[in-house]
Amino acid sequence: MRSFNIICALIARRTLAATVAIAAFAFTAPASQAQLATGIPDDLEGVGITEHVGAKLPLDASFRDEDGKMVTLGDYFTEEKPAILTLVYFDCPMLCSLVINGTVDAIKTLKYTPGSEFEIITLSFDPTETPTLAKLKKQSYIKEYGRPEAAAGWHFLTGDETNIKRVTETVGFGYKWNEKMQQYAHSAAIMIITPDGTVSQYLYGIAYEPQTLRLSLLAASQGKLGTPLEKILMYCFHFDSSEGKYTPSALGIMRLGGSVIQINEVRYSSVAKGESLPDTVRTLECYADIIVLRHPEVGSAAVAAEHARKPIINAGDGTGEHPTQALLDIFTIREELGAIDGLTVTMLGDLRYGRTVHSLARLLGRYDVRLNYVSPEILRMPAELVAQLKEQGVQQTECDSLEPVMAATDVLYVTRIQKERFTDLDEYESVKGAYVITPEIMQGFRPRMALMHPLPRVGEIAPEVDSDPRAAYFRQMEYGLYVRMALLAMVLGKA
Ligand code: NCD
Repeated sequence: MRSFNIICALIARRTLAATVAIAAFAFTAPASQAQLATGIPDDLEGVGITEHVGAKLPLDASFRDEDGKMVTLGDYFTEEKPAILTLVYFDCPMLCSLVINGTVDAIKTLKYTPGSEFEIITLSFDPTETPTLAKLKKQSYIKEYGRPEAAAGWHFLTGDETNIKRVTETVGFGYKWNEKMQQYAHSAAIMIITPDGTVSQYLYGIAYEPQTLRLSLLAASQGKLGTPLEKILMYCFHFDSSEGKYTPSALGIMRLGGSVIQINEVRYSSVAKGESLPDTVRTLECYADIIVLRHPEVGSAAVAAEHARKPIINAGDGTGEHPTQALLDIFTIREELGAIDGLTVTMLGDLRYGRTVHSLARLLGRYDVRLNYVSPEILRMPAELVAQLKEQGVQQTECDSLEPVMAATDVLYVTRIQKERFTDLDEYESVKGAYVITPEIMQGFRPRMALMHPLPRVGEIAPEVDSDPRAAYFRQMEYGLYVRMALLAMVLGKA
């Protein structure tokens, strides 16, 4: 789960170069998302990329290559070849190796090889780094690349601050040392340079589409300057190894872009004419890079995924599962209480039809947690799920009242009694309002705990509880935005 948290908080972007189809068949639009966060944290002021297409690299800037030999940048621009410039530091705990790995992955698929059709200059912006470290890095990346002859055309350079700054400032690459974290804050991108050393194109992120890279190199080889591409900016920063996470301030820089085709009213679409789900999915994926599907039938997302070429994200399949909600719930618990292991999580309300609790229980089952299920008899957690988790060794308790479990509860996860799922409305009437969390009830809980709810609420948490610092549901909503952004970026990065 750790890697999820890392990536989730790691990724920030200005725009998402993709179209997302949000298909919510037969349902109305999902609850509106929280406002996008704005404002760059102080620690990231000046960090990022300001495109300087057309700027000329300082070809007389001097560095040491991986063998310790003094070289100038100009040495790599003598043969009418374009170059890829990557600005990294070799000791970076995360993003820099992703940038270089991304470069390796992309060039692996190209016929061009560094040294023949183009050059790669990987320059460390940390003036304390040495050719010895550069050499080690070079060896491992050339090995990974699998074309030993590329060693002649891939240069791992180190140098002093003045020369480094001449290059970083020319290409508009902002980075900053953070004393507390003992790390550089920087972003991820590679730059394509023309044979005379002019900046031609910026490719953002850690995964470079081979076709885009090929065309960018081709254009640069003819001296052409690129037009700005969509930016997916990633910042490598704030990884706090003592806590094993990125601090929330990195979240503040996240922005979501891209375009969305939202299909809520199937009355006017081919679905109303009887189109099957596999056909709808195959049609939608012609227009989109990813499909986010909310569908009233259990198992629909799995059916869609089976027939789709493009990624499908299950945004709720009837009373089945709601995995993205579970991811954001876990993230919320981490943010609110610092850890997951060792906690007691009490789920309350409609555990039978509530898909959020199904997915959350499954995900929590991967941690060392105790689960309490509090519900009316007719709304119990599905027996198969309980049995499955029992087999995994998860301690679970079922009861119909909060009293016996509240004192030991770290997380109270309240759900709505889902009227729309009942076929017998009398049955609904008999259980609606079964549990209402009030300030008085909150007094029975620990001073340090989290009160969560996937929202919407319809009376099961009194509004007077909202001012209780333990009431985490609106923060939970906001975390959901970031978690889903991160998920989209992860999925698109791989797609
Ligand atoms: C939940 C859902 O749709 O399952 N809400 C949500 O994702 N925003 C819970 C609910 O509808 O009660």
